[in-house]
Amino acid sequence: MTRLRVAILISGSGSNMVKLVQSMTGDHRGRAVLVISDVANAPGLGRAEELSIPTHFIEGCEKFDSALDTALNEARVDIVCLAGFMRILSPEFVMNWAGKMLNIHPSLLPKYRGLHTHKRALDAGDSQHGCSVHAVTAALDSGPILGQSTLDVAPDDTPHSLASRVQKLEHVLYPAVLKRFSCGDTSLLTLS
Ligand code: GRF
Repeated sequence: MTRLRVAILISGSGSNMVKLVQSMTGDHRGRAVLVISDVANAPGLGRAEELSIPTHFIEGCEKFDSALDTALNEARVDIVCLAGFMRILSPEFVMNWAGKMLNIHPSLLPKYRGLHTHKRALDAGDSQHGCSVHAVTAALDSGPILGQSTLDVAPDDTPHSLASRVQKLEHVLYPAVLKRFSCGDTSLLTLS
């Protein structure tokens, strides 16, 4: 079986990154080969090192996207997973990696692209909320949806409680979608 080399991009705690790394064992076609952050002290970098995954920090500057492209090519990366990566990538970069890059977003897309998704879902009185994994295209949080996981909003939910409950769903959804994607399956996966 040809292995696919997977890079994971993070800006923060890296809990999704950990779940992705841990999922890529056995008959999984993917293997984690690199974790990259645009934040020097992102806690996720230490967590990747504990998992023995090479890490790389790229400072946020105008040359960021070309440095990122170089790092990914040097590591012969096949698939890029954005996992709590907060920097917006240029259309040129996204074009170069079209069909090879995924993102996890904490809402049931197409609802609530961008930030503050949990508060927006509560403010709207939504009875359901959740997360989505989508292919990355130049328009923010707008690429084809590959997987969604849903929960029922409780009367006493707060943005904080929703964030924590949704993140538990993310930790199951993202590895499941990546495993299918690495086998060429881009059909929608729905979990609840
Ligand atoms: C996740 O909730 C993800 O949906 C959002 O940022 C968070 C990252 O968390 N984009 P972590 O770094 O994976 O712990």
